[in-house]
Amino acid sequence: MAEFRLPKNSVVKKGQAHAAASDATRLKTFQVYRYDPDSGANPRYDTFQVDLDSCGPMVLDALIKMKAEQDSSLTFRRSCREGICGSCSMNIDGRNGLACTTAIEDIKGPIKITPLPHMEVIKDLVPDFTHFYAQYASIKPWLQTVTPPPSGKERLQSPADRAKLDGLYECILCACCSTSCPSYWWNSDKFLGPAILLQAYRWLADSRDEMTGERLDALEDPFRLYRCHTIMNCANTCPKGLNPAKAIAETKKLEAERVV
Ligand code: SF4
Ligand code: SF4
Ligand code: FES
Repeated sequence: MAEFRLPKNSVVKKGQAHAAASDATRLKTFQVYRYDPDSGANPRYDTFQVDLDSCGPMVLDALIKMKAEQDSSLTFRRSCREGICGSCSMNIDGRNGLACTTAIEDIKGPIKITPLPHMEVIKDLVPDFTHFYAQYASIKPWLQTVTPPPSGKERLQSPADRAKLDGLYECILCACCSTSCPSYWWNSDKFLGPAILLQAYRWLADSRDEMTGERLDALEDPFRLYRCHTIMNCANTCPKGLNPAKAIAETKKLEAERVV
């Protein structure tokens, strides 16, 4: 797998140390990336010691405990704590994942936590998703039709056609895949990246959608789609077990079939 890269604004220095309570017995050390652009200071790694006997089992539990008990300025995103919202995506011990579904005990030694690689950082573990969401909007991620619904009500789908969306609809747009993709690191201004391309294929694969040709036209571009070189980091990284590389390959197949 390609080496992971730190966020864009990164000359990281050693920072503050936060000790656990003196009677703590089961200590775990976390090194957490800290960056506050308003301070004008360089990024740093702060060290937090957490007592695992008074902490939940997941990395997100540890972050919440650090913020509640040791440094209230520590900044990160989270919402569902169930692997559903995609908010808590970050790089944990060199691997992109969700803090709420990553067990502390699965990682040996000190745990290093940084924001998702190669994105601008707003503060600490919070990357700027503005460009990622603009790319998502660009693929028109909604059902597009020209004919009225056959029954005048809803558009029905057979169980077999519905099954074609399995492995696609589960994407939570956490961006773990896109920010592990070397092609996206270097060309994210033009390459849509695995997350958005998986979402684009989700609509190409939907039997009810009537804009397949237009959607393929919009993707037919040396960068937007074809910058994927099948490196497979995306499939190895996805915390939901999805395979964006396969969705990209299916999209390339659709493009090729219509040329023939
Ligand atoms: S398979 Fe394509 S999209 Fe996935 S990591 Fe590799 S280059 Fe990126
Ligand atoms: S494909 Fe997986 S890693 Fe990529 S955005 Fe969707 S859920 Fe996250
Ligand atoms: S908090 Fe929602 S996915 Fe982790």
